[in-house]
Amino acid sequence: MKIVVLAGGTSTEREISIVSGTGICKALRERGHQAILVDVYCGNDTLDPATAFEGEYDVDAAAAYMRSFDDKIREMQASGKEFFGPKVLELCKAADVVFLGLHGKNGEDGKVQAAFDLLGIIYTGSGYLGSAIAMDKSLSKKLFLESGVPTPAGAILKKGEPTKELWEYGLSLPCVVKASCGGSSVGVYIVNTQEEYETALAEAFTYDDVVVLEQYIKGREFSVGVVDGVAYPIIEIAPIHGFYDYKNKYQAGSTIETCPAELSETDTAKMQEYAVRAFHALQLENYARMDFMMNEDHSMYCLEANTLPGMTPTSLLPQEAAVLGMNFGELCEKLIEVSLR
Ligand code: DAL
Ligand code: MG
Repeated sequence: MKIVVLAGGTSTEREISIVSGTGICKALRERGHQAILVDVYCGNDTLDPATAFEGEYDVDAAAAYMRSFDDKIREMQASGKEFFGPKVLELCKAADVVFLGLHGKNGEDGKVQAAFDLLGIIYTGSGYLGSAIAMDKSLSKKLFLESGVPTPAGAILKKGEPTKELWEYGLSLPCVVKASCGGSSVGVYIVNTQEEYETALAEAFTYDDVVVLEQYIKGREFSVGVVDGVAYPIIEIAPIHGFYDYKNKYQAGSTIETCPAELSETDTAKMQEYAVRAFHALQLENYARMDFMMNEDHSMYCLEANTLPGMTPTSLLPQEAAVLGMNFGELCEKLIEVSLR
């Protein structure tokens, strides 16, 4: 198959996306596909859409080329300008499928998906609607609750609006402050004091104009992949220090991950059922990964859905797939297969 692995992008998770994309592209090539790694902006002056999928291709060189555009992309992020290179779209049109290895804003939020729908480009993962809903954490919460999926109490703050006291939002300390469009915990703060709350708010607003406040749930953290409407084995995530932040997500050895998670059969079935229900509640398609907390009373809370989950060497979905006997390359093919149906 001719596959464009679209990665990089303009979000705060650009580097993670390059790592995800590099792994996906290599794995698909090893399985005999004509896969190429393409950024949303660059890649346009080195590849001719007519011949791009033929001949030798060095994935690491492509990733290095993408990274050479980091400064340019930062400028684009700051200016909020158009982010797609025209030739990139030509490459995507010439492919049988585009594997979306993007994460976060302008990639995981439905905009690329909507543009691709209009252009007739086939891609992996959810459509524009589910992607946009999942990126909106306040809408996600409403839909979770409507579908009977428990989620922590929360509130939405918009930049420029007067900030109220936590109790006025029905929340208390400790709580979580999150940049709404973030991913990989960029712009996420657990606050224990009023002072920390104020500092975290200011920081979170540097990442996004919308910030989500959420009641902090003390307990164990889990994640569950849902592929083609079926829940994958649950993974437990236990960072050795602090919470599951950017460093603990991507520095090998900093988090203990257990899959399948040590949970009773009843709790396992319940969390998997919530994951599938949450998947449908947000109108997701093909695949996604849901994050959960469980407190001492075994009450479970769905935190969010990740519609383009990480595919790095430390990422969770590939570890869940491994428990099912599926290696990384097989998982990539599975995600394509379900998306093409
Ligand atoms: N946002 C990161 C990539 C994840 O959910 O895996
Ligand atoms: Mg996330």
